[in-house]
Formats: sequence, C-alpha cells, structure tokens
Amino acid sequence: MEAIKFGVCGVGRIGRQHCRVFSQDREKYELVALGDIDSARVAAMAGEFGGRGYSEFAEFLADPEMELAIIATPSLDHAANAEQALAAGKTVLLEKPIGVTAEDYQLLQRLDRAYPGKLYFGHNHRFEPAFSNTQDIIAAGLLGNIDVVKLCKHHQFMRRNDWQMRLDCGGGQLSVWAPHLIDQGLQLLGGPVREVRSYLRRILTPGDADDHVRITLVGENDVVAEVEISNSVAIAGPYCTIYGDRGTLVYGQDQETIRLKYLDPEFHWPGATADAGAPVSGKPMNADAELPWIEETRKVEPDINMWEYVEVEIARHLHNTLRKSIPFPVKSSDALEVVRVTEVVKKQNPQFKWIG
Ligand SMILES: NC(=O)c1ccc[n+]([C@@H]2O[C@H](COP(=O)([O-])OP(=O)(O)OC[C@H]3O[C@@H](n4cnc5c(N)ncnc54)[C@H](O)[C@@H]3O)[C@@H](O)[C@H]2O)c1
Repeated sequence: MEAIKFGVCGVGRIGRQHCRVFSQDREKYELVALGDIDSARVAAMAGEFGGRGYSEFAEFLADPEMELAIIATPSLDHAANAEQALAAGKTVLLEKPIGVTAEDYQLLQRLDRAYPGKLYFGHNHRFEPAFSNTQDIIAAGLLGNIDVVKLCKHHQFMRRNDWQMRLDCGGGQLSVWAPHLIDQGLQLLGGPVREVRSYLRRILTPGDADDHVRITLVGENDVVAEVEISNSVAIAGPYCTIYGDRGTLVYGQDQETIRLKYLDPEFHWPGATADAGAPVSGKPMNADAELPWIEETRKVEPDINMWEYVEVEIARHLHNTLRKSIPFPVKSSDALEVVRVTEVVKKQNPQFKWIG
C-alpha cells in the first residue's frame, strides 16, 4: 500500500509535532513538503525531517507529490487555507480551531459539502487515552445513565502572553483549548444540544482575549456538560468528573488514573417513596440505609504520553480512512457543531471585541 505523501504548512509548535509523529511510520506516511513564512524555520525542519521547503503558501500547494496537506498555520488562516488547499486538489487535515469567525463557519460548511471525502478536522484530543477509557466505562454501564459531565482544563497559573492571547490574532481560550473540551463534551452528551450558556473572562493575561471560559451545554436529553478552561487556577481541580445515576467517575489533570465509585451492577433499587411530613428527628432522610458501593482506581491504558498518543491516533485513523475507507471518527458534523457552539458563546459575550 502506497504511503501517504504529506506536507505540513505552519511548522511551529504543533506543526513540528505533526512532521515528527506522522513521519514515524514510513510505511504509512512520507513527509514531502514543509511550508512556513519563516524560511529559516522551514530550512531547519527540512534538515531534521526531510521534505521540500516553501515559504510561499501557493508554492507549497503546488508541490506535485503532496497528497495530504496538514494545515497548522495561525488560527485565523485555517478556513481560508483549507479552501486554497482543497482547490489545489489536496486532501486536507485542518487544525483546530477549524474556524474562528462566523464567515469561517459558513465557508467550512460550504467546503464540507463541496469536497466530500477531502476535508478532515484535527480534533486530536478526542483520542486522549483517559477520555477513551471513560467512554468505554460509560458504554459498559457502570455509571448508569449519565446526568452531568464536567470537563476542566486548568492550565498552569500564568499570564500567557503570546499571539494566542490576542483577539486580533484569533486567540483566546475559546479558540485555544475550548474546541477540544467542547468536542469531548458533545461526545459525552450523546445527543443534540438544546441550550448553550456561557461566561467568559479575561483574568490574568496581558492580552485582550479570554483566559477563563465556562460553557454549559444542555442536551435535548437533559444531560448537562460543563466545560471550563482557565489560566487562573492555582490549585487545579479534576480534568473530568461524571455523575451517573449509578456512580461517579473522576480523573485529574495528569490523566494517569481514573477513580470510580459505582453501585454493584447486581444491585436493583428497592421501591421507595418520599414522605410529605417533616423528617423524624435523629433519623436519616435517606431511603437507603446502606448501598453496595464498589470503589476502584484504574490506571489509564495505554500507559503512554498523552500528547504523543493523540497525534499517533489521528495519524492512524486518517491513514485508515484514506487507504482503507474506514470512516474517520471525527465526523465533519461533530467539528462543525463545535464551531456553531463557539459562535453562540461569542454572541453571549459581547464584552470581548471578537473579529469578523
Ligand atoms: N490540536 C492541538 O493539539 C494543537 C496544539 C497546538 C496548536 N494547535 C493549533 O495549531 C495552530 C498553530 O499553533 P502553534 O502553537 O503551532 O503556533 P506557532 O505560533 O508555534 O506556529 C505557527 C507557525 O505558522 C507560521 N505562519 C504564520 N503565518 C503563516 C502563513 N501565512 N503561512 C504559513 N505559515 C505561517 C509561523 O511562522 C509559525 O511557524 C493554532 O491554530 C493552534 O490552535 C493545535
């Protein structure tokens, strides 16, 4: 089977990671092109990983061998770069945030319709091991019916000061980390969103963008997903907490172990009623004297660096899709829903000077 000849445009922090991880398995991927306006960076990257270097996007897209273009340029360019790459006949893997403005959202919907099977969205954190383990635990029914999901990315307490904290550069945590957690939240919600509520603040950053994001998604099924991203939490809380009607699941920011407390699967609730009268003094206000709890701490599997794994997994899935016609797990409708939600959040937070 022929390796996918790929190029990466925007060889900064994440672009370098794409070059490195995708080209690890030479039978599946071969790096042929690198693009970046910073020609010194292109040259350094070409020296390290191989491939032809381009400092003009049009020249990068004209590379005759490149089948797949991975777009990892600054966020504001994503949707337009995807359009150019698709028009040049390339298959595209587009970094998150896949779109930053309402115009991007419209454009991406058009591109998705116009180029079936050509445009893929890089929600790599869908493949975090702890998240996948959690989906398996939910599917096994240990937590019962899911009622509340809380996903919190508590970054190191810091006054982040790069372009990702400037609105005129497409920055702000709504674009930086929220797409990952909204995507995960939508997966755990397990159905369409009925309502979006949100609260954004700029707390520490010297930039003008949001560095504290709180979004509540309410599903048509009444499940609630709360998403929080913050640069101003000095004592980090759990990354993920899930309440089900038979148990609770928690894991921390390190995503190394999953703590579970759930009712014995053999247990069935005895019948009970709630009395109208006042509780009897000294007696518990509880229908159940004792419950058969099972408590466990499970090691997240596979035991592997999460940042590496999410890249390995997106590369594997994309190869399966392009070479074996196995559907890509991040559906376009999933990724477009993330952008729709962020557009609603922007409207709810006019205190920020959103561009577009
Ligand atoms: N999925 C993830 O886990 C993940 C992680 C980090 C970043 N990202 C996303 O990837 C994008 C890049 O982030 P980063 O942290 O790598 O940023 P970065 O600033 O480190 O890198 C951006 C690169 O793009 C280059 N560039 C700028 N304008 C360009 C243009 N017009 N044409 C070609 N190259 C251009 C810059 O010179 C730089 O090398 C952002 O949208 C970010 O949200 C995703």
